[in-house]
Amino acid sequence: MSTRRPLISGNWKMNLNHFEAMKLIQELSYQITGDDIELVDVSVHPPFTDIRTVQTVLDSDKIPFFLGAQHCHFEERGAFTGEVAPSMLAKLNVKYVIVGHSERREIFNETDEMVNAKVKAILGAEMTPIVCCGETLEERDAGDAETKVGAQVQAALTGLTAEQVGGLVIAYEPIWAIGTGRTASAEDAQAMCHHVRAGVRGIYGDEAADSVRVQYGGSVKPANANELLTQADIDGALVGGASLSADDFSRIVQYRLL
Ligand code: PGA
Repeated sequence: MSTRRPLISGNWKMNLNHFEAMKLIQELSYQITGDDIELVDVSVHPPFTDIRTVQTVLDSDKIPFFLGAQHCHFEERGAFTGEVAPSMLAKLNVKYVIVGHSERREIFNETDEMVNAKVKAILGAEMTPIVCCGETLEERDAGDAETKVGAQVQAALTGLTAEQVGGLVIAYEPIWAIGTGRTASAEDAQAMCHHVRAGVRGIYGDEAADSVRVQYGGSVKPANANELLTQADIDGALVGGASLSADDFSRIVQYRLL
């Protein structure tokens, strides 16, 4: 049995203004109990404009969720209109930053090199990257899923120490399952998360492989959370759509009761 603490992360994407964010956090704080937090880490990833508000609510109400971000730049400062530096997030107590989400890669042309630079910058600011990887449906149908995901993970982690890799979160998110209502079967999700861990083991050794947390993401819902999250190599979930509903997200956090 793994001793890795599951991490359930809510990726709000470009949804909820800061008033709506406050309301959702308050609802979640009523539904997710101290007993849940004993067993599971929870992070919320609001849009940038909500982060300060959410930080204040978490602090003042002593709500034990980790604050997360969805994105950042890899440079520390400079002429990068519209971007946010890792240290700016760290200053707001952000702990987890999603990197290389398929929407960033596909819509905003993020490359493996940029993902690697961001991973290093986030670690440099003493936060934890949630490094996303995943294959398209065409790649899966062509039998290339393992190769694609293995290469993405290897590129994202280039130049890190085994100790740094052991502290990371990697999110396996098959692109065809994101926002589509189509979930990978628990067996397929487990097989791919195992593959990700095996890739880490091959390069960084047993200690890193046994401590790195591998999340599954892609249409995680209360109805499938228990089956997915009880797989040996799945250490949590990156949840998009269902994280916008206090009921659904709380039930996913409480997957052991489902
Ligand atoms: P979804 O999104 O849960 O809406 O499929 C997951 C993600 O993109 O992280």
